Amino acid sequence: MVKEQFNSRFGVIMATAAGAVGLGNIWKFPYMLGQNGGAAFLVVYIVCVLLFGLPLMITEFVMGKRSGQSVRGAYQVLAGNTHWNGIPILTCLSVMLIIGVYLVITGWCVKYLLLSVFPSLPMLNGWTDILCNTIAVFISVMVVWMGVNKGIERLSKIFMPILLLIVIILAVRVAFLPGAKEGLTFLFAFDASKLSFDVVLSALGQCFYSLSIGMGALITFGSYIPKKQNVVSLVGNVIAVDTLVAVLAACAIIPAVFAYGSSPEQGPKLVFSVLPVVFQQMPGGQVMAVLFFALLCIAAITSIVSLLEVLTASLVDISAQKKHPLTRHRAILYTGGVCLLISIFCALSLTDSGNWLVWGGKTLFDHIDRLTSCYMLPLVALSTVIFFGWFVDKNVMKEEMQPHYGSRLWTIRVYYFLIRWCFPILIFLIALHSIGII
Ligand code: TRP
Repeated sequence: MVKEQFNSRFGVIMATAAGAVGLGNIWKFPYMLGQNGGAAFLVVYIVCVLLFGLPLMITEFVMGKRSGQSVRGAYQVLAGNTHWNGIPILTCLSVMLIIGVYLVITGWCVKYLLLSVFPSLPMLNGWTDILCNTIAVFISVMVVWMGVNKGIERLSKIFMPILLLIVIILAVRVAFLPGAKEGLTFLFAFDASKLSFDVVLSALGQCFYSLSIGMGALITFGSYIPKKQNVVSLVGNVIAVDTLVAVLAACAIIPAVFAYGSSPEQGPKLVFSVLPVVFQQMPGGQVMAVLFFALLCIAAITSIVSLLEVLTASLVDISAQKKHPLTRHRAILYTGGVCLLISIFCALSLTDSGNWLVWGGKTLFDHIDRLTSCYMLPLVALSTVIFFGWFVDKNVMKEEMQPHYGSRLWTIRVYYFLIRWCFPILIFLIALHSIGII
């Protein structure tokens, strides 16, 4: 069976950017900025993206592009039949759990969007959250179902520009609010005293999350890149879009929060409990609320699409070696179904009827969130860099770069220095930081 490929360079950039731009950019980035001192965090974040995000994204893209396979197939092609083939299993398992958690928050976005369009809808209990989860899964499954070109690429090409437009409209509107200046100063006035080891590690972790590093999304999408494309410039563009959206989202949220007298240091609830109140007080607030939650929904659902694609492509590859291979459509139904189930349990654990899903003082949602972001994600990322840095033939990277950069291969030396020595140590540090040891 011939694999589908993205049709154009623009399509690759939009589809990958649509996967990368997600709740991490619009929900997480602004509150992390708020908690970590504004401009200082922003500068460190941009340095992390260029120094670490760029080479790591290139690595994953090259793994996918050279092997032309899903995560599962890529390791098999590059590693042969060795124990490295365990990594794809761990990757898929973490992706499945991440979707579960991610879907719960996406469900809230869908709920807030419905509420801002129809303010009188009765949406009070936990069941509406589950209904909204289901809506999000249904839409994502439909997109993956339509295929790499007709679904993922085509929709990303439509929705990414819309998303950019919405975030620009919001940022401009907010800049004209009386009192917004203070917020913009907070965002852009650099205060070196705010810098700390903690800020650096938080920025690094956020960079990994926002660029979807270490989760197979880039390997999978890399396998759909037409052979003659230059990976470095593709990654450059994706990073630019991802960072732009994060910064614009912060410009839309933080000054609005300042203008209405709230504090930007509220953490995760900034978007869901502070902003709706801010919108209520703002002239034209209902339109702003609709635009904002539409923005969140688009960003979140396109990211779920990319995660579902990772699972679907791997499942198809695994089953291709069995007696009864699965069709892509059937694989999508299975992966969508399992993810929906996990997310329902996660959402349930946050409601009153989900007491049995709470242990150790924490809900299933918290446990899975912690398990994936503190342990599984870093472990996958760590094994990927060690695998590619130490065990994959260096010619794989050289051959990929040669047609575009000729013999300027000193960059490859720098690259290998980073990937063999610096990145493993850094990822280890991020993991210790997120566990709370340092
Ligand atoms: N990058 C997305 C965001 O910013 C989240 C995401 C999508 C992700 N795919 C991923 C995170 C893969 C880690 C791995 O919200």
